[in-house]
Amino acid sequence: MTFAIETHNLGRVYKIRDTKKKEHKELIALREVNLQIEQGELFGLLGPNGAGKTTLIKILTTLLAPTSGWARVAGFDVMQQQAQVRPLINMVSGGESSGYGLLTVRENLWMFAQFYGIPSAQANRRIKELLDIVKMSDRLNTKSSDLSTGLRQKMNIVRGFMTDPKVIFLDEPTLGLDVGAARDVRAFIRQWITEHRERTVLLTTHYMVEADELCDRVAIINQGRVLACDTPRT
Ligand SMILES: Nc1ncnc2c1ncn2[C@@H]1O[C@H](COP(=O)(O)OP(=O)(O)OP(=O)(O)O)[C@@H](O)[C@H]1O
Ligand SMILES: [Mg+2]
Repeated sequence: MTFAIETHNLGRVYKIRDTKKKEHKELIALREVNLQIEQGELFGLLGPNGAGKTTLIKILTTLLAPTSGWARVAGFDVMQQQAQVRPLINMVSGGESSGYGLLTVRENLWMFAQFYGIPSAQANRRIKELLDIVKMSDRLNTKSSDLSTGLRQKMNIVRGFMTDPKVIFLDEPTLGLDVGAARDVRAFIRQWITEHRERTVLLTTHYMVEADELCDRVAIINQGRVLACDTPRT
């Protein structure tokens, strides 16, 4: 069977330069990560700062090369078949400042829809629907540089879901959101995955509650190792 996400002994070592000692040190960010995530799963990756969550997501979204092992997303190798992987996925990172500040919310989102080849009318419809869900319809024509941190994060969430990805990667999606907005976003993610069986979510978080409330399965990651992997309530 084809997994939505599969990794085999995936590893990533960063070379960091010690500018004082003028030498290179190696930092192991991921060690032999083996994951098998099925279509339809809402999978959570829970771990502290520096655990390797973002590194893993960057590899799975073809933005960073692994230094060992392999990974497949939607059946395609993230190194050898990037062109096949990219149209099928999307990613939202907490705290990212994506888009162009000079453009309005609508213009930014429309532009990203064009990158995915979504017809204009369809893009505009989805933008309206999703902005409504995150309670931001009144900000359609606000310049994105004028948005607050939380509102910008909501715009990014709309950007991620707008392309109807098969697999979506959410790196701390509720970062910077107030309690109510975070709850709404969690409810939306849950609803999104329930609507179509072929959708898959990989989400990272620091919040135990978020992992517990939302995810079908949760893996704990620490110092680059995946420590445990189970349903939250067992
Ligand atoms: N470009 C880079 N160059 C060197 N080291 C890096 C780089 N990116 C990440 N690291 C290091 O790799 C380790 C894992 O970082 P990563 O960003 O994957 O952690 P994280 O689990 O996402 O943490 P956080 O919860 O703080 O976002 C950390 O020690 C980090 O300092
Ligand atoms: Mg991170």
